[in-house]
Amino acid sequence: MDTKKFIEEKMSEIRQRAGSAKAINALSGGVDSSAVTLLGHRAIGDRLKTVLIDTGVMREREPESVVEIFKRIGLTVHLIEAQEEFFRALKGIIDPEEKRKAFRNTFYIVLGRAVKESGATFLLQGTIAADISETRRGVKTQHNILEQIGIDPQIYGFQVIEPLRELYKDGVREVAKALGLPQEIFERMPFPGPGLATRIIGEVTPERVAVVRKAVKIVEEEVEPLKPFQAFAVLLSDQATGVTGSEEGRRSFGDIIAIRSVESRDAIRAEVTEIPWELLKKIQKRIVAEIPSVNKVLYDLTPKPPSTIEYI
Ligand code: XMP
Repeated sequence: MDTKKFIEEKMSEIRQRAGSAKAINALSGGVDSSAVTLLGHRAIGDRLKTVLIDTGVMREREPESVVEIFKRIGLTVHLIEAQEEFFRALKGIIDPEEKRKAFRNTFYIVLGRAVKESGATFLLQGTIAADISETRRGVKTQHNILEQIGIDPQIYGFQVIEPLRELYKDGVREVAKALGLPQEIFERMPFPGPGLATRIIGEVTPERVAVVRKAVKIVEEEVEPLKPFQAFAVLLSDQATGVTGSEEGRRSFGDIIAIRSVESRDAIRAEVTEIPWELLKKIQKRIVAEIPSVNKVLYDLTPKPPSTIEYI
């Protein structure tokens, strides 16, 4: 791919399509939405408003740090604090698909409000080729975004622009790098839209998010030198028996954390990372030492297929 040419073409496409209208995009800090944010601002400047929705299920300090990164490159990101709204919507839900649906609906309600307030008629989206092929194969569902946010495109003349739809993850990383995004963005591990909610089996509560958030941070820190495609931790719904303290027989029930690390090019297929045994033991030790509710740590050995990368 001629990255420079791609960027020029996409910028002129955004300019042509948007004309003098306003546009909006939702940034997560992932490489896809970051690349779109920069492409959009280069193309139409301040006529693009960028928002970051704090869903309450992002990684530790992620919303603030993404806003800071973009501030350093001269772009204003409007932070929308919607944590409580998401937790209310997710309360009591155990079924994985219901959880995704509740997350998605809340996301679009919040984004819909932001769109209406902004007066934008274009929505810039970081959809990539893998999203489209997974939707076609029925692995994931991609809903009509405009309907979801309560906008009838025929009435509002509203349009979606998806400049990255031909690219896979590695292509997006090249574009992000060529656009001048910092390394912490163009090398960022993929992180799903529904965030830590995809890494919790069973109910998503602020307390359970706090557990998995700490475990995810430990795994990311420890495997960083191996540069896997994706590595994270998952909080299972069962509890396991453990013995705590020095007195034998002091039995307790504790949380179970699964570690997952995979290698992939496009997220369509993935192999398990062969993490050295010593490193796995170190991760296990840190997790049980730093998260008191956890007394069992597992390593997931399953490639995709038959597994998916995430757990819901
Ligand atoms: P799966 O779990 O389907 O994941 O093997 C493939 C890739 O997609 C990410 N993923 C998502 N990304 N919204 C996203 O933006 C989602 O709902 C979602 N679900 C999974 C996952 O992290 C992996 O990189």
